[in-house]
Amino acid sequence: MKILITGGAGYIGSQVVLDLCRRGDEPVVLDNLSTGHQEAVARACVSGGRLIRGDVADRPLVERILGEEEIEAVIHLAADSLVGESTENPGKYFRNNISGGLVLLDAMVAAGVTKIIFSSTAAVYGEPSTVPIPEDHPLQPANPYGFSKLTFEGILTAYERAYGMSFISLRYFNAAGADPEGKIGEDHRPETHLIPLLLQTALGLRERLRLFGTDYPTPDGTCIRDYIHVADLSQAHLLALDALNRDAASTVYNLGNGNGYSNRQVIEAVQQVTGVDIPVEEAPRRPGDPTVLVASSAKIRAELGWRPRFPRLEEIIATAWEWHRRYPHGYREERNCSGEREIK
Ligand SMILES: NC(=O)c1ccc[n+]([C@@H]2O[C@H](COP(=O)([O-])OP(=O)(O)OC[C@H]3O[C@@H](n4cnc5c(N)ncnc54)[C@H](O)[C@@H]3O)[C@@H](O)[C@H]2O)c1
Repeated sequence: MKILITGGAGYIGSQVVLDLCRRGDEPVVLDNLSTGHQEAVARACVSGGRLIRGDVADRPLVERILGEEEIEAVIHLAADSLVGESTENPGKYFRNNISGGLVLLDAMVAAGVTKIIFSSTAAVYGEPSTVPIPEDHPLQPANPYGFSKLTFEGILTAYERAYGMSFISLRYFNAAGADPEGKIGEDHRPETHLIPLLLQTALGLRERLRLFGTDYPTPDGTCIRDYIHVADLSQAHLLALDALNRDAASTVYNLGNGNGYSNRQVIEAVQQVTGVDIPVEEAPRRPGDPTVLVASSAKIRAELGWRPRFPRLEEIIATAWEWHRRYPHGYREERNCSGEREIK
């Protein structure tokens, strides 16, 4: 099957590209490389699959790709996704995540492509009132990033009614880990995610980890999150694609493991996996960080038969550690003036 993957040069998108190629589908990646890496696509698609450098908001380009490549479905991962930045610069998030996505949808309608899988987020829920969080939990995003994703979910529903678009929105919790075969992994710049930050600290690339908030109403005072292996996340996209091909109804699924780990528990687990004592600096809470985010993924388990292969935190960290050890500077090794390597 020929599938357009927007954001396929990013962390999660490149894993989806890899898994599609592995099962014989033909992904075509559209990515502006604002945070993604050309090298990630090259490693993910040794056989078939290719990268077109461009923006989802470029309607003539998107229409040309959909038509000339005979695209049958779209997986839409392209977005800006830094919660803090979205609070400081909301317009950037509304332009890219809402307006950009709308251009993509309109091009799909014009080209007669009616199947889309959308990367949504746990941030649509805001501070939860019940945990684990089911899909029908109230939706009250606490930041413009979450709001942009929730708005796009609403747009998908309207496009289903108006134009017969079928969609599956996948609300990811915290993606982590790396391809178990070690080809691709996480290389965000700037890095804001806890596990890669800890691993970079373990490698000596950062002096210490800043731990934001130690006075939350949790057993050890730190936030609790649900970590899902990127390969398990990727498999859910393949199942969702198969469901849309069976004409399954449009819907929304949470994706997490259903286990919550506090930030201190994650630090402890990283120390165990790496054998390195990690210096930690305690810092105040960041605004907009919910206390606990843990998914109920009962719906996707029951309806699509999704099962995580790597549910244990230690396994997730171990695959990420392999990747970080092999590629400590990610896809691009850069050197500063004195010839020393540095992280940008
Ligand atoms: N990483 C997580 O834990 C997490 C959790 C919840 C939701 N998500 C969502 O999953 C998706 C992928 O996240 P990720 O961690 O892989 O991020 P990423 O930054 O690694 O990937 C995003 C990709 O989209 C590309 N992109 C951005 N805007 C674009 C545009 N206008 N046109 C073309 N390409 C564009 C970037 O260059 C990048 O390759 C995002 O939509 C994100 O909001 C991620």
